[in-house]
Amino acid sequence: MTKSIFIFFILQTLIISITSSSSSTPLLTAHSVLTHHGFPVGLLPIDVLSYDLNRTSGDFSVDLGRPCRLILPPDNYLATYSKKVTGKIVENRIAELNGIRVRAFFQWWGITGIKISGDDLVFEVGMVSAKYPVKNFDESPQCEGKKHSSS
Ligand SMILES: *[C@@H]1O[C@H](CO)[C@@H](O)[C@H](O)[C@H]1NC(C)=O
Repeated sequence: MTKSIFIFFILQTLIISITSSSSSTPLLTAHSVLTHHGFPVGLLPIDVLSYDLNRTSGDFSVDLGRPCRLILPPDNYLATYSKKVTGKIVENRIAELNGIRVRAFFQWWGITGIKISGDDLVFEVGMVSAKYPVKNFDESPQCEGKKHSSS
């Protein structure tokens, strides 16, 4: 009796560690690309399926699996991420960004670039920019209506 419970416990621990390591690997690496270039992880939702990065040019592509809606801190702007977000990342600067839009002043704005300026993140929308403290983006947000399915 005691022995079978013990074996069951070991099996369960094994299964949990196998499933959690395989599902969190792409998530960790996509977010660590951000931190390696000086950015906080909160710029990307946790729901990353896969990503691609050209280490020479900095060109990247993030696949979220599906379009994503979420609320951005600190002013609770509604933002949408396309299924695929692309851009070019170098130290403290993301350019040619495509796929992230923010709702503000009754309009949708495509964020074209993001850079780090001291303790601030500077979001660029064409020629206009808005500054927010980096610390507001310490945690990855979760897409709205996330279903906890295994896929
Ligand atoms: C990566 O970028 C460099 C420089 O733009 C380019 O020459 C190279 O072909 C790219 N590699 C891939 C795999 O796309």
